[in-house]
Amino acid sequence: MHMNKPLKFMMGFGISVLFIILSVIVIRAFYIGSQQPICLEPDNPERIVQGAPFNRTGLQKVSGKSWDYELVMVASAFNLDPAAVQIPLGAKVKIIAASKDVIHDLSATGTNIDMMLVPGFVKEYITTFQKMGEYRLLCSSYCGSGHKLMISTIRVVK
Ligand code: CUA
Repeated sequence: MHMNKPLKFMMGFGISVLFIILSVIVIRAFYIGSQQPICLEPDNPERIVQGAPFNRTGLQKVSGKSWDYELVMVASAFNLDPAAVQIPLGAKVKIIAASKDVIHDLSATGTNIDMMLVPGFVKEYITTFQKMGEYRLLCSSYCGSGHKLMISTIRVVK
């Protein structure tokens, strides 16, 4: 079969793109170990919040990690635990959060914090607080009649 040059080029290009896409999928799945969210099985939300680290909410100093503190939070209808926390200025904080019941969404005005908490999954986010002041951590996803009561305060202090 005779193929002209543009056709050969297009076929070669198509096969190359296909090969690159398949390589990325294989490397992600087997080397990096990432899974599509749809592949992850939710755990029992009640069991998650009873075990570590959720059995000790609040801010804890950690060492040997690339962040300075861990802020463990549990969201439930209609409560954010802890209700208030003090964080040292400039500290790199890993927020580890989970929901006990329904979907909640932790967000703090003036920061990049926006964590959708789906029951059965643990959510983590690393951030640094560079400005002193008070940040309101709210639930920004309607979760029921007490939704507006879900408030926690982060105080960034020297
Ligand atoms: Cu929790 Cu809205």
